[in-house]
This record gives sequence, structure tokens and C-alpha cells, in this order.
Amino acid sequence: MMQLRSISKAYQLGEEELTILHDINLTVLRGDYTAIVGTSGSGKSTLMNILGCLEQPSTGEYYFDARAISKLSDNDRTDLRNLQIGFVFQQFNLLPRLSALQNVMLPMVYAGYSPLERRERAETLLERVGLADRLANRPNQLSGGQQQRVAIARALVNQPQVLLADEPTGALDSRTGGEVIELISGLHAGGLTIVLVTHDASVAQNSERIIQIQDGRITADQQTRNAA
Ligand SMILES: Nc1ncnc2c1ncn2[C@@H]1O[C@H](COP(=O)(O)OP(=O)(O)O)[C@@H](O)[C@H]1O
Ligand SMILES: [Mg+2]
Repeated sequence: MMQLRSISKAYQLGEEELTILHDINLTVLRGDYTAIVGTSGSGKSTLMNILGCLEQPSTGEYYFDARAISKLSDNDRTDLRNLQIGFVFQQFNLLPRLSALQNVMLPMVYAGYSPLERRERAETLLERVGLADRLANRPNQLSGGQQQRVAIARALVNQPQVLLADEPTGALDSRTGGEVIELISGLHAGGLTIVLVTHDASVAQNSERIIQIQDGRITADQQTRNAA
């Protein structure tokens, strides 16, 4: 369902061209649970941003459900991103002045839900991530783990096919991080496709497949013992 074919990504820095990703070939199937590991600066976030249609590759083609992303109009690409892909970041990226409920309701505006449906769906999702009693709290009134759970609820509101999580436990202590990973593993058990970037080998071991990136290249791609 997600396929990268000979993807590269380069940035122009003054006179110099800096290539961040080299010849990436990667297929992620529906229902997969894939972890991407690699040192800082190896290109993990760049790869995730391409998978999430936040950035376009310099060469190669990205197919999402057999649709070539580079051939889509900007509007169609934005729709695909908003409706099919949920994104979770290390720093949560919640809007500070909005409550947990309002943060989760926000992305549903694009999907054309009525205000009542938005509220009901957001409440249901916040209950599912264990925050039924925190609906009115703003981010600074929540712990890091709670904020990440709000961010996960927000990522799920439009019922995406895939959840992309870029170091979702990177700003959390290990216990709280473990709870977030348990939540993500539960979503996978419910059928959601997961691609997760992590520094933490024990986090990666929860996945079914570990892809290693080094200097912008895939250097290893192995199933874990959880693989079906
Ligand atoms: N917009 C950009 N312009 C120039 N270089 C960038 C840009 N974004 C990332 N890079 C560089 O690309 C490399 C990979 O970055 P990134 O994908 O964030 O790595 P990781 O997530 O593995 O730490 C780094 O050297 C970074 O400095
Ligand atoms: Mg990164």
C-alpha cells in the first residue's frame, strides 16, 4: 500500500547539493508494524516526511495505494495526507491554547464532519486513549505522556490507514514511553498500519520489522520475532 521506488532527497545549500536520502526502496503493506532506526541525522525524519506527504522526494516515485504521489495535484495530496495518514511527533505539536478535546476535533474540519459528530468522535477517541477525564485540559495541564496520547487521538480522528510516529517516545521517560508504545501496539492489533521511528532498541522490538538507516541508505531490513 505504501511503496517507495528509488527515492532520493537532496537539498540545495548555496552552491552545494546535499543528498540526504539515496536510492530508497521500501514497501509497507497494510497492517504492517515497521520500526525505522538509525543514528541522529541519518535521514529518518526526512523519510517519514516523504511517507507522510509532508515533503516530496527529489527523484524516484512514491506510490500510496498504487497512486503516484508526484502525479497528484497539491489539493489531492493534501486530502490524502489529511484523510489517510496520521502523524505523531516527538514534541506532540498540540496547539497550546486549545483543550485536549479541541485539539482532537480540529483535523476533522477537513473531513466534513458536523460539529456534533466532531465532538462525539473526539470524545470517543480521547476515551480510547485513556483521557476521558481530561477533555477540558490544555496541553500545559497534561503530562508528557498524556499530551502524546492526545496527539495520537488527534492523528486517528479521520480514521487513517496508517499512523506515522517520529520518535513518539523521544521526549518521555521510559515508563511513560512504554505506555505510549503499548497504546500504539494496541492500535496495530486493531488493524492499523504503523511506521515508527525510534532510537530505542526495546521500542523497536515491539514492531514486526526493523529497518536500519545509515547516512541516508537502508542498510538492514529484518523481521522481528513478532512477525506473522
Ligand atoms: N530542510 C533541510 N535542508 C537541508 N538539510 C536538511 C533539511 N532537513 C534535514 N536536513 C539534513 O538532513 C539530514 C537528515 O536529517 P533528518 O532526516 O532529520 O535525520 P534524523 O531524523 O535521522 O535525525 C541531516 O543532516 C539534516 O541536517
Ligand atoms: Mg528525526
